[in-house]
Amino acid sequence: MALWGGRFSSSPADSVFALSRSIDFDWRLAPYDLRSSLAHLAVLQSSSLISKEDGKALESALKELVAEVTSGKFTPIASDEDVHSALERGLTEKLGATGGVLRAGRSRNDQVTTDLRLFAIDHFLEIAQLITQLQDAILDKASEYCDAPAPGFTHIQHAQPVTFGHELAKHAQSFARDLDRINDWLERTSVSSLGAGALAGSSLPLDPLATAKDLGFKATFANSMDAVSDRDYVAEALFILSLVGIHLSRIGEEWSFWASTEFSWAKVDDQYSTGSSIMPQKKNPDMAELARGKSGRLVGNLVSVMTMLKGLPFAYNRDLQEDKEPLFDSIDTLLLVLPAIVGMVATTHFNREAMAQGAPLGFSLATEIADYLVLKKIPFAQAHEAAGKCVALCESSGRQLHELSDGEYAQIHPSLDGGVRAVLTVQGALDARVTHGGTAPVQVRKQIADARAKNGATQKNIADAQKAFTGMMSL
Ligand code: ARG
Repeated sequence: MALWGGRFSSSPADSVFALSRSIDFDWRLAPYDLRSSLAHLAVLQSSSLISKEDGKALESALKELVAEVTSGKFTPIASDEDVHSALERGLTEKLGATGGVLRAGRSRNDQVTTDLRLFAIDHFLEIAQLITQLQDAILDKASEYCDAPAPGFTHIQHAQPVTFGHELAKHAQSFARDLDRINDWLERTSVSSLGAGALAGSSLPLDPLATAKDLGFKATFANSMDAVSDRDYVAEALFILSLVGIHLSRIGEEWSFWASTEFSWAKVDDQYSTGSSIMPQKKNPDMAELARGKSGRLVGNLVSVMTMLKGLPFAYNRDLQEDKEPLFDSIDTLLLVLPAIVGMVATTHFNREAMAQGAPLGFSLATEIADYLVLKKIPFAQAHEAAGKCVALCESSGRQLHELSDGEYAQIHPSLDGGVRAVLTVQGALDARVTHGGTAPVQVRKQIADARAKNGATQKNIADAQKAFTGMMSL
């Protein structure tokens, strides 16, 4: 059913209808469109713009449609252009001409962005909840391996030993920032556009503040032209989802490495691994690879919307219809990836021996020599030079740093003596790094406890917001 046509002498060409049509992807906005229609109806009713009978009939028809859309009894047909026209057809089929009453004071321009905001908020709460589950899995694993020594890398070269709990817990920090970003985004996105009309507001006695409140938005638009053309919340959403994807891709990369025979650190559970169609022995960390690979489409969706928005004139332009598929795709992608990665992280076992064996390799304790000299008041540049000479001597003579003789130490630097051997152990190096946020087990435990407390509070906030949202929707 077309929502326009009076001034046209012919209906659109098939190719025009095909290009215009968004119902194949925007139908999922139906529940939110129906809910915002109920809010619009309430305003039309309270300002006596429609008769009591029409109001009642529309209210029950809208509620019937909610049930019929949910059960699949009411679905789009070939002639429906978009979700708004399909639902108006539904109303008209039930009520005849009264089905067209709701269009008073409302345009698809303010309607579609209100629906999309509601959709995005609903799904961001779900994604946030999944991220907190991932946080739980990461923090559980981190405490399990809280004091397990492992090599720490920079440039994928052995750098300094770390505790593996520290290595794992670092991921909790990036996802905590993602959750903070989602929280900020929720604040900024919780703005109703309903009442902005096509672009200029309405001459009818509508009440945008009341509809905003009814729909659970924290605020309403300040400028009707901005309201119908602002898609900052879509761009920001896609950026946040991209960054979550990038963080997941870094987990994917690590897990893929760690599961290799060369590393032999990670044993990914069978449930979260896949096999090869030709090599019967293979067990591949495909979930980790997909987490890494999917980040590409997330960034692609962000670029797609940013490019569409660039230079776009105000107010509404049909280009804006292109906001939906990228947003839907990024949300769907993370709803698929997150549960699999939560499971993969929670069920992976790590090989303590292999990690511990690797910890001192590559002269990763050389910094201990430099720090030892610094404690003896030697300028760091000199201390660094001396430690480097120890490494060179060890390398040329096939020994480890603690295997040099007292004489050799003294020859390299007069302040270097056999006492240095006491700090040339992995455990010593780990236990010494007790400064705030360092890798010493005592600090890692504190870090994990803080992250858990923060995650618990976030979980509660999300649950409260979800409850409020469900309450608003189930009118
Ligand atoms: N399907 C359109 C969209 O997604 C709805 C708004 C159409 N508005 C218009 N003036 N043609 O943006």
